[in-house]
Amino acid sequence: MQRRWRVAVNTEEWKPTPSEFENAMALETQPEEQKKTRKYYFEADRKTSIVGRLLLRSVVHDCLGIENRDIAFDRTPKGKPILRPSLLQSDACRQNSCGGFNINISHSGHWVVCAAECDAPVGIDVTDYGMRRNSQMDFALVDSDPTLDRTKYRPMAASFLESFVGPHGSIFAPTELAHMQRLLNDPACTAEGQLSAFSRYWTAKEAYVKVFGDGLGFEVSRLCFDFSGVPFASVPLLRPTLTAPVPHSAPMEAMTALRLHVDGILASGWSFESIRLDRNHICTVAVAPHPPPTRPEWWQPDPPNMQFRSVSTLMDSLGGELDWCC
Ligand SMILES: CC(C)(COP(=O)(O)OP(=O)(O)OC[C@H]1O[C@@H](n2cnc3c(N)ncnc32)[C@H](O)[C@@H]1OP(=O)(O)O)[C@@H](O)C(=O)NCCC(=O)NCCS
Repeated sequence: MQRRWRVAVNTEEWKPTPSEFENAMALETQPEEQKKTRKYYFEADRKTSIVGRLLLRSVVHDCLGIENRDIAFDRTPKGKPILRPSLLQSDACRQNSCGGFNINISHSGHWVVCAAECDAPVGIDVTDYGMRRNSQMDFALVDSDPTLDRTKYRPMAASFLESFVGPHGSIFAPTELAHMQRLLNDPACTAEGQLSAFSRYWTAKEAYVKVFGDGLGFEVSRLCFDFSGVPFASVPLLRPTLTAPVPHSAPMEAMTALRLHVDGILASGWSFESIRLDRNHICTVAVAPHPPPTRPEWWQPDPPNMQFRSVSTLMDSLGGELDWCC
């Protein structure tokens, strides 16, 4: 039985008619959650919101075998959705040692991503550093196009990043800050290199904070990540163009070499995984330390894989297609 789930959905490819959108809404059985989705002003936000809800439900359905109509989420005081505790008491959950089931989603741009673990608290964050470019410029393209004048665009990335690196907006621990400053001052470091290093720190910190649902109450400069020895740049670009096919599943980079200090103390037992979903989106999953459950001798951990699903697959798995034809 699979014990960890990583799923990504690209909502850009879903262009629902009003009635298709209502079909999707009908699969969210909790009126208070439906209300949250309807409150968004922009259609794109309503789309990512409902896809996030369906993604949570579809992963719970696949992972724990609970029917959509029976799935219910509560929220922690700071807003993290958690599966209603009574559902974790079911025989199926206990038999499969899924009593510590935990799940989290994140959305940015047109991506919605989800991570779930059977026996560990988990957090996920995706960031669209394309959106953060603060201009129409696509830095990845700029960096790779020899006909463009890189010197013109590099400072735009730098001035954006300086707002985070500077004394007033730092999310960084001192060592991280020194690393970012080195990258900003290194003429050989491309704008994309700077932005992807920044996004890597950003998503790792957000994912960590989302594990226990602390939200804005946690001062993220207390976290110090050391990415040295973890060559993130080796992660292939999965979708270099919008027309390229999305692979069904892709390996995530397990950042086993990554070290994390919290308030200067080495935090052991944490694991982080990272993937670049496309040219502009980086996603990180954080899994809290947990005692290893009793395993049969042959047991191997699931390799960290990101599965890509379409919205219609999510809806089908929750019984959406049936609803349409009835
Ligand atoms: C919710 C929060 C934790 C993440 O917000 P975000 O990055 O804008 O949003 P994401 O798309 O990654 O995640 C949103 C989803 O996470 C879940 N979520 C909400 N509150 C959460 C919490 N406290 N903990 C974990 N997950 C939470 C929800 O499912 C939410 O989606 P929904 O509202 O559609 O149900 C944010 O409020 C926050 O507090 N971040 C602060 C951390 C910080 O200081 N960051 C600075 C840069 S590192």
